[in-house]
Amino acid sequence: MSEPVLSVRNLRVEFPKRSGVLTAIDGVSFDINPGEILGVVGESGAGKSLTGQAVIGLLEPPGRIAGGEI
Ligand SMILES: Nc1ncnc2c1ncn2[C@@H]1O[C@H](COP(=O)(O)OP(=O)(O)OP(=O)(O)O)[C@@H](O)[C@H]1O
Ligand SMILES: [Mg+2]
Repeated sequence: MSEPVLSVRNLRVEFPKRSGVLTAIDGVSFDINPGEILGVVGESGAGKSLTGQAVIGLLEPPGRIAGGEI
């Protein structure tokens, strides 16, 4: 089988807050193989948009990738 075009492992996104750290995404992993289309379904606030923003490098500070690999 060919290599995935995108591989995300244990992605973690955090927002530092005055009162501590808000963990918005914790442990997201997926692969996208050549020719594959991935649909992401989840309730509002589940982290769909932040996952996409992290993958394409458009997280707005102070949001930050705090763990995992893309
Ligand atoms: N700038 C921010 N500061 C703090 N928390 C944030 C920020 N942006 C997003 N969050 C939190 O991160 C979580 C995931 O948000 P996200 O926008 O990725 O959800 P979503 O799955 O795309 O929701 P929707 O279906 O409503 O678009 C939510 O709990 C949200 O409150
Ligand atoms: Mg969204």
